Amino acid sequence: MALTLRPLSVQDGEKEWRFLQELEQEKNGFGNDGHGVPLDEFPEYLMRHVKGAHSVNLPENRVPQTTYWLEEEGTILGMIKLRHYLNEGLLEHGGHIGYMIHPDQRGKGYGKKMLALALEKSRLKGLDSVLITCNQDNYGSRGVIEANGGRLWKESDKSRWYWIVL
Ligand SMILES: CC(C)(COP(=O)(O)OP(=O)(O)OC[C@H]1O[C@@H](n2cnc3c(N)ncnc32)[C@H](O)[C@@H]1OP(=O)(O)O)[C@@H](O)C(=O)NCCC(=O)NCCS
Repeated sequence: MALTLRPLSVQDGEKEWRFLQELEQEKNGFGNDGHGVPLDEFPEYLMRHVKGAHSVNLPENRVPQTTYWLEEEGTILGMIKLRHYLNEGLLEHGGHIGYMIHPDQRGKGYGKKMLALALEKSRLKGLDSVLITCNQDNYGSRGVIEANGGRLWKESDKSRWYWIVL
């Protein structure tokens, strides 16, 4: 079955909203800002994200970011955010790419595949390498990054910084 990455769009609706409600609001540094947004405010949420991907009305210290849904046969399994470039904050924490797999779908290899698809998108956006950061104790994310060629750049007690050359 084909796994695809589909960009968030203003045409999204209840399916995408439900997915965001089923994900944690925050886990291992990945923030799900759609969690808790009422369904009738979801169109504004989508519009804000589409604009943000095109650098429109970006809050200070934010860089443009594209959000993708990982989908298989019409079911959303995960989401991944691709920052178009780094700023000082992202260099320290966050990097180019952040991701989350639905809690019921973890440990099945989807994280590895989702990152591989996002690396193709990164190449198409003209990036030649991406920085990904994760917590020391996030073994799932470490596995995802290392399976995709991540090279450990530096580490601290709490965090690891990896570069993937595209
Ligand atoms: C991190 C996350 C995206 C991983 O996705 P996943 O689909 O569960 O990961 P995969 O099944 O593709 O596993 C990738 C590799 O990581 C390792 N791994 C996965 N889960 C693991 C676990 N619980 N403990 C140790 N290693 C693990 C394995 O090496 C695995 O490869 P293998 O199965 O071939 O041995 C997912 O757990 C998640 O959404 N976590 C919450 C949010 C989060 O932490 N986001 C990342 C912030 S940096």
